[in-house]
Amino acid sequence: MKCRKCGEKAVINMRHHKLALCQKHYLEWFIGQVDKTIKRYRMFRKKDKILVAVSGGKDSLSLWDVLLRLGYKADGLYINLGIEGGNYSDISLEKVEKFVAQHPGAHLHIVDIKTLYGRSVPELARESHRGKRICALCGLVKRHEMNRVAYEGGYYAIATGHNLDDEVAVLFGNTLRWQTGYLARQAPVLPSTHPMLARKVKPFCRMYERETAAYAILQGIDYIYEECPYAVGSTSILYKNLLNELEEQSPGSKLSFYLSFLQAKENEQICFMGEEASPELHPCEKCGQPTTAPRYCAFCRVIYKLRENGI
Ligand code: AMP
Ligand code: FES
Ligand code: ZN
Ligand code: ZN
Repeated sequence: MKCRKCGEKAVINMRHHKLALCQKHYLEWFIGQVDKTIKRYRMFRKKDKILVAVSGGKDSLSLWDVLLRLGYKADGLYINLGIEGGNYSDISLEKVEKFVAQHPGAHLHIVDIKTLYGRSVPELARESHRGKRICALCGLVKRHEMNRVAYEGGYYAIATGHNLDDEVAVLFGNTLRWQTGYLARQAPVLPSTHPMLARKVKPFCRMYERETAAYAILQGIDYIYEECPYAVGSTSILYKNLLNELEEQSPGSKLSFYLSFLQAKENEQICFMGEEASPELHPCEKCGQPTTAPRYCAFCRVIYKLRENGI
């Protein structure tokens, strides 16, 4: 297989794009595709300060690398959740720190949940009276801390490494259950609805997982290969496997499923009923972030064991 651009030996063949490329041209193509996505969905501009949420995985580290190469003002944020299984959090932090050492000038914020709040995420999950599942609790903690750091640091947007496979799995799950509220909100950009809730952007939303992995490997980015130990057996992994089978038989299915969904929403060919005006928000009495719950936000209730009527 030869590179479409220069005729040298290709390192990757993307059947869904009918495109084979050599290493040099693949890296160039990938960076160009991401820049197009950023501009197509008006995610941010060169002058905006961006916070890239990095987990130590291939997607978020590749994203940070691409944004720095494109000349965006991108700082990193790593949240140490304290997941001990397989030394997951320690190894992921090592990968992020190695990345920083190889990218002079890259600035990283590290938030250590146990140091800041006294308990790691698995410890919080064990003591949670409401029996919150660890992944849901972890999501709550990550969202709260991303918003906090973005607000305190004056960042315009938070960029996450969600790739096409992630987005398509979510779309598939939401469609299976016709969760119209979630479908209405699924988009490459989530605008900020409050000064303390940052804008969220997903510049890799059109890149296949296989493409982001190839980018990381060809660019020499070392990342954590293992999934979070708590993700094993999740429905999103089931959906990804099903969608991969579909893609195998019919290349391009994932991309067209996602892009047609976005296009239909943009053209207002589909609209979702039941989307009422946003519920009223008020500041959490503990952290100040907006919440619909009485007095305290969900994060502060878990962390400080608060109830509506106080401690
Ligand atoms: P996940 O929910 O693990 O699929 O991760 C989705 C995205 O969230 C990643 O691509 C990162 O941008 C971000 N993320 C996940 N875990 C962390 C973490 N521990 N610290 C900072 N960002 C994270
Ligand atoms: Fe949060 Fe796995 S990364 S539970
Ligand atoms: Zn080439
Ligand atoms: Zn709060």
